[in-house]
Amino acid sequence: MCHFKSFNRRDFLRLAGFGALTALSGGAAAWLSACVPATAPSIALAASTPTPGSGSFSPDVELALRAVQSEVKILPGQPTQVWTYQGEVLKGDPAVLQFLPGSYLGPIIRARQGQKFRIHFTNNLPAESIIHWHGLRLPDTADGHPRDAIKPDQTYVYEFEVRNRAGTYWFHPHPHGQTGFQVNQGLAGLFLVTDEEEAAAGLPADAYDLPLVLQDRVFDMDNQFVYLANGMMDQMMGFLGQDILVNGQPNFSLPVATRAYRLRLLNGSNSRIYKLAWQDGAPLTVIASDGGLLAEPIQREYVTLGPGERVELWADFRDYQVGTELQMRSLAFSGVEAGMMGGMGQGMMGGMEHNMDGMGHGMMGGMMTSALPNGESFPVFTVRVERQEAETLRLPERLTIMEPPVVEQAVNSDTPRLFRLFMSNMAWTLNGRTFEMEGVTSAETVQLNSSEVWELVNEPGQGGMMADFMAHPMHIHGVQFRVLERQIDPPQAAGWQSVSAGYVDEGWKDTVLVMPGERVKLLIKFEDYPGLFLYHCHNLEHEDMGMMRNYRVQA
Ligand code: C2O
Ligand code: CU
Ligand code: CU
Repeated sequence: MCHFKSFNRRDFLRLAGFGALTALSGGAAAWLSACVPATAPSIALAASTPTPGSGSFSPDVELALRAVQSEVKILPGQPTQVWTYQGEVLKGDPAVLQFLPGSYLGPIIRARQGQKFRIHFTNNLPAESIIHWHGLRLPDTADGHPRDAIKPDQTYVYEFEVRNRAGTYWFHPHPHGQTGFQVNQGLAGLFLVTDEEEAAAGLPADAYDLPLVLQDRVFDMDNQFVYLANGMMDQMMGFLGQDILVNGQPNFSLPVATRAYRLRLLNGSNSRIYKLAWQDGAPLTVIASDGGLLAEPIQREYVTLGPGERVELWADFRDYQVGTELQMRSLAFSGVEAGMMGGMGQGMMGGMEHNMDGMGHGMMGGMMTSALPNGESFPVFTVRVERQEAETLRLPERLTIMEPPVVEQAVNSDTPRLFRLFMSNMAWTLNGRTFEMEGVTSAETVQLNSSEVWELVNEPGQGGMMADFMAHPMHIHGVQFRVLERQIDPPQAAGWQSVSAGYVDEGWKDTVLVMPGERVKLLIKFEDYPGLFLYHCHNLEHEDMGMMRNYRVQA
């Protein structure tokens, strides 16, 4: 029985016709020729030669993770064919792994700072893959660089010590040109770190500490995922789904008691940006960002979350009546696609979003667009206050001790290392270059143990394309950085103003949204490991098309 019938020959030819052949041919060819049963084999270490672990490393925790084809029931009717990670604890506390029942997402790995992990990743997919640990400070051999992608039925062994602060990190595939497809198929999990400082903060724990992974999907009539149905348009702009899934489930509803919760939100979408707000106008109380706890809780009327970014909320429902239903919504905004949406306006889109082909795509100016464009308002999930419970926890005034970033620590405080994000020759580039597997320039080489200022500049390119100016969620591997400042070019200020009050630039970050016309300065210390690491746009279609480069940390 074939499990990839949704991706048919016509789709393949369409993709090929739009130039995605190179990017997707390996995987696509495999699906066409080798549809295999989704019955997942039980976990065991692969028979094929694993990458050898170093003899001297003695792990506290040892896990097996296997990427497999499977199916889950997401919508009424037929189950959906997915790709998913299965996990098993080989050594250590079984509670290290948690599973989201009935979801393609996961597992959740719960780690303590200082623990040593050995993870055996076995690829049982009909395509190359590799796992990247997003946000973790790791040696480059454990980072999941695309050059380490393994073939079907091979195993890659990761060994690393958890150096990060307590926080919400995640993992996902990173094979070059196929990350967007593989994440859309379902591959993503969480890597939650705890430490003593966090334990002392007195935050809601266990059943009151809830991860919420936000993603969007397109389903076909048979409930199967559709990816890049609009070919080049989706690639240039980024894939947008019309169904919002939370933890892999549609119409997600969260039953709560009248007390405080810690909600860990991950934007695990390929390209959708969320402008999150409670429907009743209550402010969001943010306690952590990508790299863990903020110095103190901050309140925002809304939070802007680009792909790859995380925020943690302190959500206290004690003043709500049992029976209350409260939506978390994404509010309307503009300017993320300045070339196209910004110019044409949302109103025009709104009137044209009727389904043209049963997949919910509209037609505009001869180009296909998503039924739910970036910047549209929609419900994300619903909280249902179900029961009364006494609350003893109080929101702490201080969460952690954190020095403000000191720009003078940078070796280049007056001359930031400049990265211009623009489209050239129909491709999104970083300083005019696209990804090369081992390629790295002197302008991309930094010294171990140095601090630097990096300036990301989102400016229009020379491509003359309609979409040559977009928001880019920029991510840097192997580090946590601080955001020093943002500047906006006045002509682009309107779109920027519709999201900028929702930035959480406080605290440690590994991914930062750079809006059209914006310049963002970061302070980064390269203090962990020498080696070859990536920086890229976390709009996964931009990344797959090559908006990704290596940087080298030189010892
Ligand atoms: Cu989350 Cu290089 O990615
Ligand atoms: Cu990453
Ligand atoms: Cu981008």
